[in-house]
Amino acid sequence: MSSLLKSNAVKSASPATRTSAPASVPLLDLRRQYEGIREEVLAAIARVCDSQIFILGPEVEALEREIASLTGAAAAVGCASGTEALWLALVAAGVKPGDAVITTAFSFFASASSIVRAGATPIFVDVDAATLNLDPARVEQRLRGPRSSALRAILPVHLYGQCADMDRFDAIAQEFQLALVEDAAQAIGAEWGGCPAGSLGVAAAFSFYPTKNLSAYGDAGIVTTASSELAEHMRRLRNHGSPRRYYHDEFGWNGRLDAIQAAVLRVKLTHLEDWNEKRRGHAATYDRLLAEAGLASNQGSAPIGVLARSPQAKHVFHQYVVRARRRDEVRKFLADRQIGTEIYYPLPLHLQPAFSYLGLKEGDLPVSEQAAREVLALPMFPELTEAEIRLVVETMADFYS
Ligand SMILES: Cc1ncc(COP(=O)(O)O)c(C=O)c1O
Repeated sequence: MSSLLKSNAVKSASPATRTSAPASVPLLDLRRQYEGIREEVLAAIARVCDSQIFILGPEVEALEREIASLTGAAAAVGCASGTEALWLALVAAGVKPGDAVITTAFSFFASASSIVRAGATPIFVDVDAATLNLDPARVEQRLRGPRSSALRAILPVHLYGQCADMDRFDAIAQEFQLALVEDAAQAIGAEWGGCPAGSLGVAAAFSFYPTKNLSAYGDAGIVTTASSELAEHMRRLRNHGSPRRYYHDEFGWNGRLDAIQAAVLRVKLTHLEDWNEKRRGHAATYDRLLAEAGLASNQGSAPIGVLARSPQAKHVFHQYVVRARRRDEVRKFLADRQIGTEIYYPLPLHLQPAFSYLGLKEGDLPVSEQAAREVLALPMFPELTEAEIRLVVETMADFYS
């Protein structure tokens, strides 16, 4: 599986390294999670094998009900991946060929490629320097300037597990009559102002990619929506635009969810709250140890900058990301000492070769560009130990001393 993982720093640690002083720290260790839920997961997979129903069916329907209930959405539609979920959400929200959609320049490629797949053009706007989420002030400025009538939607991303400013985006979407679609791929269980991610726009896309907070044993995703009409449309779109077998009203694709993935996800869903709470605990430990080591402070002189947490946000720390001075050097120093890190993301979307047709150039979105040079994700997963976090911080302190 590791060859499919976007990070190449996913390793496992033997139980011995967890009881004694750690010698290495993986960025993510899925084996530890599996050790704790092995029996439950294998029983769920056996249940699907016994049923011989492998695509959609009762497991997928049960997962859809459970995710709708978790997010407070009217309905959820299981699908093949987070990328598929974004496409379904955008098309159901009314995005058509020739339209334009505002999104962040600092996200995973799928946030913008799904707009292209819907036939529309992404309009990249810069991020807020404190949180690295799409900046509502810049979006508003853009909308008050010369505006194309083709603009249909805003797609904020809840980056690293912290919701974008959905109060501001909701007000902007209403004023300019745009659909508000959430890219909640990294934010299952997160909240904004006490409302769950997935209930903050007309539709929201979640990814269950194996590294996510709630993760499948392969590719999987889901869309939540406040509208049962939109949900019905997405159910048709994920199945070749087909309201009934072999009749096709429009072009959809095969975007269905497998029953085995749904069954695994249902097991893990019962642990999600606990796992997210553990992630928050680890983030607090990093914050504290980085401050105690003198590596991070509110003054700009410290070598590490901790990203801001919005008071309205309940963060789920899909990633614990800092801004690091001499980022590439400290990353190598950590790697040489068996500490896994990752860069989410090294090149902003407007500078990706695939988007060169938009004609944007270096300097156009400077906050995203600076973030791409500075961000560093440190090890983060529920089963991480305090001793491991301590080793990460001590090793960084050695580097900067
Ligand atoms: C912000 C964001 N959007 C979309 C996706 C796409 O999800 P998937 O990999 O499940 O297709 C991801 C996954 O990495 C993501 O992080």
